[in-house]
Amino acid sequence: MVKGQILVVDSNTASRTFLMRLLEQKGYRTLASSLGKEGLIYAWRDRPDLILFDSGLADLGGEAFLYKLRSDRRTARTPIIVLGNSPQEEARYREAGANIYLVKSAEAVPLLLNAIEKLLHPDAEFEAPKPVKGGYLIPFLSAKGGTGTSSLCVNLAMAISLQMPEAQTVVLDSVLPIGSVAAIVGYDGATNLVSISTMPMEQITAAFLREALPKWAAWQFHLLAGSPDPQQAQQLRAEQVEHISKMLCLAYDYIFVDVGRSLSNLVLPIIQQADLIALVISADLEAVRLTRLILKYLQIKGVSDHRLFPILNRVVGFEGVTKADIEGMLNLSIRMTMPYLGGDFSLANNQHVPLLRKFPRETAAMIIKEAASQMVSMAHRARELAESA
Ligand SMILES: Nc1ncnc2c1ncn2[C@@H]1O[C@H](COP(=O)(O)OP(=O)(O)O)[C@@H](O)[C@H]1O
Ligand SMILES: [Mg+2]
Repeated sequence: MVKGQILVVDSNTASRTFLMRLLEQKGYRTLASSLGKEGLIYAWRDRPDLILFDSGLADLGGEAFLYKLRSDRRTARTPIIVLGNSPQEEARYREAGANIYLVKSAEAVPLLLNAIEKLLHPDAEFEAPKPVKGGYLIPFLSAKGGTGTSSLCVNLAMAISLQMPEAQTVVLDSVLPIGSVAAIVGYDGATNLVSISTMPMEQITAAFLREALPKWAAWQFHLLAGSPDPQQAQQLRAEQVEHISKMLCLAYDYIFVDVGRSLSNLVLPIIQQADLIALVISADLEAVRLTRLILKYLQIKGVSDHRLFPILNRVVGFEGVTKADIEGMLNLSIRMTMPYLGGDFSLANNQHVPLLRKFPRETAAMIIKEAASQMVSMAHRARELAESA
């Protein structure tokens, strides 16, 4: 009796052959690949009943391979067994959606066969595999420079981290050619988006990004700083940015991205995969006009209004356009209005201190806290809507 089809992905020929023979002897049909990329093609084309892979693939990181399987509808729920080298990897792989993790050894054969039986058996008492959800992705963008995008991004990220101390938060600065987040939070280390993008892809794993990114007590979040200067920006390996942002989503619960005003192809995947987009608008006609263009672009890219969090930031002293006028011109509800803070905002930035710590009793602090909790609930709601669609 044929008991089901198993895809074996293992770059070691001897071990791959061994596994195939073993499984065929036990009555399973097999399909095999020595490379992760080919394995993905087979997995999505042939829809095996179970996938068994060795974490040490020659072309893709084991976590990246698993992530790709779990984030595709065709394999989101396929039982997956990971064969690895160290029990320390187990938690990571289980968290990323593996049903079973086994350390590869001769003794593991009975365990493996038992696990396969249980996973393929309909009444198995195993928890159903969960597709990887990943953290909530929240990019900040604006139509114009000097709108307060970077300042609001870090201050809202800080407020959310404070409200949810058990969650892991990261801020990614993707503004080129010079990111300003590092200067605001007071970071001058060497780890940044450019340096990480030049690493081999298989080394850029969720576990690595969880460990390697600095965190401040004052700001509460981890930081993946942007390019410190135009010279370094030229070395950015743009093709790796999407992978980096996916791995950040696996490693962290909330991922804030300072996108700034450049809606380049580099950040398009981040915009499209965002749970919620913070759109920062200043109170002048030019900003509103440019924002209208951005909204049109977002619409074309399939971003609907419930994924937008429009923020009116009064960066300059005079009244400018009213909130009601802006809402009318953009046909959108403003979710947060930040008053003009005079020199206070720049002062806090220059001292690398979050507004919530610098001016905890001011109205601005209340507004930030209120907006932070609204953002979280909107991001959660948007994700639920996306999943039920
Ligand atoms: N509501 C505000 N009141 C006063 N100054 C502000 C306000 N928001 C931002 N700023 C100041 O405006 C300047 C530009 O902010 P920044 O966050 O760098 O903007 P962007 O990232 O959009 O270019 C900073 O000096 C910041 O302190
Ligand atoms: Mg900026």
